[in-house]
Amino acid sequence: MAKLKAGVIGLGMGWGHLCGYLDHPDVEVVAVADRRPERRERAQREHGDRIGKIYNEGIDLIKNEKLDILSVAVPNNQHKELTIAGLEAGANVLCEKPMAMNEAEAQEMLDTAKRCNRKLGIDFSYRFNPQSRAMKKVVESGALGEIYYARTAWFRRDGMPGLAESDFNTSSKAGGGMGSWFFDKQQSGGGPLIDLGVHRLDLALWLMGYPEPAYVMGSTYSKFGPERAKARNLEYTVEDLACAMIKFKNGATLELDASWASHIKEREDQYTRLIGTKAGLLHKNVNEGYTYEVEFFKTEEGVALDSKLHEPAPAMPSAFTLFADAVRDDTDFLVKPEEGVIVMRLLDAIYKSAATGKPVEL
Ligand SMILES: NC(=O)c1ccc[n+]([C@@H]2O[C@H](COP(=O)([O-])OP(=O)(O)OC[C@H]3O[C@@H](n4cnc5c(N)ncnc54)[C@H](O)[C@@H]3O)[C@@H](O)[C@H]2O)c1
Repeated sequence: MAKLKAGVIGLGMGWGHLCGYLDHPDVEVVAVADRRPERRERAQREHGDRIGKIYNEGIDLIKNEKLDILSVAVPNNQHKELTIAGLEAGANVLCEKPMAMNEAEAQEMLDTAKRCNRKLGIDFSYRFNPQSRAMKKVVESGALGEIYYARTAWFRRDGMPGLAESDFNTSSKAGGGMGSWFFDKQQSGGGPLIDLGVHRLDLALWLMGYPEPAYVMGSTYSKFGPERAKARNLEYTVEDLACAMIKFKNGATLELDASWASHIKEREDQYTRLIGTKAGLLHKNVNEGYTYEVEFFKTEEGVALDSKLHEPAPAMPSAFTLFADAVRDDTDFLVKPEEGVIVMRLLDAIYKSAATGKPVEL
């Protein structure tokens, strides 16, 4: 079988996509694109013999290459345009999270994928780890009973992209010269809610079976960003903390928090807690970092039967491997684009509720 031809646009997070495809035995990377010369140079230096052509502009890559797989890993305001161009040119597209700037854009991407009969995957990367897979299995076994309440959060103490306090003594424009699009609403669509919150929201919704939302109440705050940006002659137009309560039609409730900067103990505090009628689960990061553990809580005959979930090897394949597998085998990818659209609908509702101070009915 001929190898699948893949292209990657954007070599920040997209570097992971590139490496994932390079590692896949049935994929050949025919092109990558990035506007930043140092990222193109790195691609040439480290993988020049294995990546075909290197473009400056993503749209030129799409126009000139015949792709089976396209990864879109650029700032959020370009997800729609490049994804639609890729789908219309015949590629299956793996788009970074958030799917788009808002629900309307995400829906247009989904409609295009259907019209072109191509796969569209969203990289909700927090599903692609063994703890998440183990949790999903436990939930699907019915061990939790009815999940009626969940809380999902990602707080950072000092993790504003490009504007962390700890970056302020550097001579660069904004924390290492990177990241300033994250706090420009025109390019990002929002702050930590659309950046970090999407991951925790998707994880909780996926575990809960994506119940249909009924109401959303949200708040957003910008207590640190504007001042920090001003000190660098930059403008900060997004929130730095968001919180929300989502009520579902089945009666369940989900609370969500996302912050880039807040007075908390931990450098990074991530968790998703599910409370069921029979048992509970807690997914939490370990040592303020990016490894995770899952605890299971249950009481029987007055005895606490608490345990930790483990999933034996082999490790969960990456989103990039699984997307390529899905294209090769014409099977479903783990993240459905319809789920990406629902996440955008909820984010739109949270921002609307925050702006109006009122609950939003969905
Ligand atoms: N799944 C995850 O865990 C995860 C983690 C980080 C970022 N992301 C997402 O990945 C996307 C990119 O974020 P990032 O952190 O890599 O940002 P980044 O700014 O570090 O990198 C984006 C790159 O895209 C390039 N670019 C922009 N427009 C382009 C175009 N039209 N053609 C070619 N190159 C272009 C830029 O030059 C830049 O190098 C965002 O949507 C972000 O939300 C996802």
